[in-house]
Amino acid sequence: MEHRTRSVGIVGVGNVGVAGAYALYLREACEELVLVDMNKARAEGEALDLMHGQGLTGRMQVSAGEFSDLARCQVIVVTAGVGQKSGESRLELLENNAKVFKSIADQLDRYAPSAIVVVASNPVDVLTFMLQELSQRPKHRIIGTGTMLDTSRLKTLLGEMYQVDPQSVHGYILGEHGDSELAAWSTVSIGGLAIQGQTVFGVSYSASRLEELAESVKQAAYKIIEGKGYTNLAIGVVIARLVEAILDDSKTVLPVSVRLSGEYQLSNVALSLPACIGLKGVEKLIELPLESEELAALQKSGETMRESLSKIGF
Ligand code: 2OP
Repeated sequence: MEHRTRSVGIVGVGNVGVAGAYALYLREACEELVLVDMNKARAEGEALDLMHGQGLTGRMQVSAGEFSDLARCQVIVVTAGVGQKSGESRLELLENNAKVFKSIADQLDRYAPSAIVVVASNPVDVLTFMLQELSQRPKHRIIGTGTMLDTSRLKTLLGEMYQVDPQSVHGYILGEHGDSELAAWSTVSIGGLAIQGQTVFGVSYSASRLEELAESVKQAAYKIIEGKGYTNLAIGVVIARLVEAILDDSKTVLPVSVRLSGEYQLSNVALSLPACIGLKGVEKLIELPLESEELAALQKSGETMRESLSKIGF
């Protein structure tokens, strides 16, 4: 088979776009990165800065480009729009970022109709659904980073609590990437041992302690923003990991924002659920046997998303 360059486009080269580019670069996840930003000078500066690491990391073509340069990309990551400010919720960004998405949807379809689009801008679930509506490409080819980040945050905290590698913690934060998300404890296990209701690795079960962890995951972005003004590094890793799963066609199961059509009795929204990711985008959506309270919380999160979508006419 003819070799096709693994090309990734990033639309929006602010703090998150740059962190995504840097993570992709260090993980050598692709051979080419195309950076698109309204501020072309910034995109050019970032491209040049990244290029200069090649003597130590290996070859990767990084350039600043226009939407038309995205034609050769298999995956396009959208991080355009504003980020949260101190004390601001993700949903408060909606009006502004919905306008940005309306302005880029056509361009993405015109120049890269068959690329997989990864949405990282917030509120990510609402914008993922909106882009699925605005774009002509099949809906499973538009994926939101969703609760991959929250799930990684939870694994980090559980790793500390149980003194185990966070990558050996399994389980999910589901629903909105935001205030209505839920920690699905029935899905959480370490080394095959469910943590709900039992002592694992010598740590006894405490519902209240786990709830505190879930709350600190929910508050994580607020806390980081109070300190540094924005979040970008962990979401950058999320972007790189998701793009890798697509380009490698690895069929990795990741909690990402996907369109629901009746699953979990939810429709007409995008929310995070574990999905199998490969070259075709979302290849399978996993239907977990959630506990009734978890299902109710997921459905409530879905309602919150639906209300936000209605507000912007979707
Ligand atoms: C985060 O959770 C702000 O959504 C971004 O870091």
